[in-house]
Amino acid sequence: MRFTKIGDAILINRFLKANRENYICRMKEAVNNNVLGLQMPTDPRWVNIAQMNIEDILVDHAYCEQKAASSCISMIVQYPERSELVEVMTPVVAEEWNHFERVVEQLTKRGYKLGKPRKDEYVIKIQKILKKGGSEEERLVDKLLLNALIEARSCERFKLLHQNIEDEELQKFYYELMVSEAGHYKNFIQLAKLYMPEVYVQRRWKEFLAEEAKILETLEVRADRMH
Ligand SMILES: [Fe+2]
Ligand SMILES: [Fe+2]
Repeated sequence: MRFTKIGDAILINRFLKANRENYICRMKEAVNNNVLGLQMPTDPRWVNIAQMNIEDILVDHAYCEQKAASSCISMIVQYPERSELVEVMTPVVAEEWNHFERVVEQLTKRGYKLGKPRKDEYVIKIQKILKKGGSEEERLVDKLLLNALIEARSCERFKLLHQNIEDEELQKFYYELMVSEAGHYKNFIQLAKLYMPEVYVQRRWKEFLAEEAKILETLEVRADRMH
């Protein structure tokens, strides 16, 4: 089954429910073939220091999931008349909240606490890529692409954790999340293509990727941050 027409984002969600195995396979391939398009790979030192500091990584990760859920809720609240967006985003909210719940479970079973959120410099910086002006559709597409970008980068980091972390339970956990976030990335990109022509979305997406690569170079490699 190919997703190439308008309404693809909705089809993806329906397909996901109908054919979970095939979907997982496709998302895994997408990650392996760098379909996500990220221009700058994560500094290989990150995963080494991160896995030695799993408490901080889990805490920061829990907040990433919480923010992902609330970002989707905000879009549903802001664009209730965009029925495709509401249909696609509603199950994503549930999935992100489930991720949050599961990260908190991982913290609790290791005797760690959620604690307070940390300053998310990555998100603060990439939010500056968002258009200030333009049409409502252009601004909506920017928000969708920003979400897609965070999903893509999270997916890449989860892949690194899955491949390198020694804890077997977390290895499996991060594999599952990698697949799930790749699906969300695809949802956001397909939604963006509903609201603006594909050629525009592709051009803007390339700008997002280029800006993100520059931002990544300015960020310190930290053992206590997911991004
Ligand atoms: Fe998530
Ligand atoms: Fe996600």
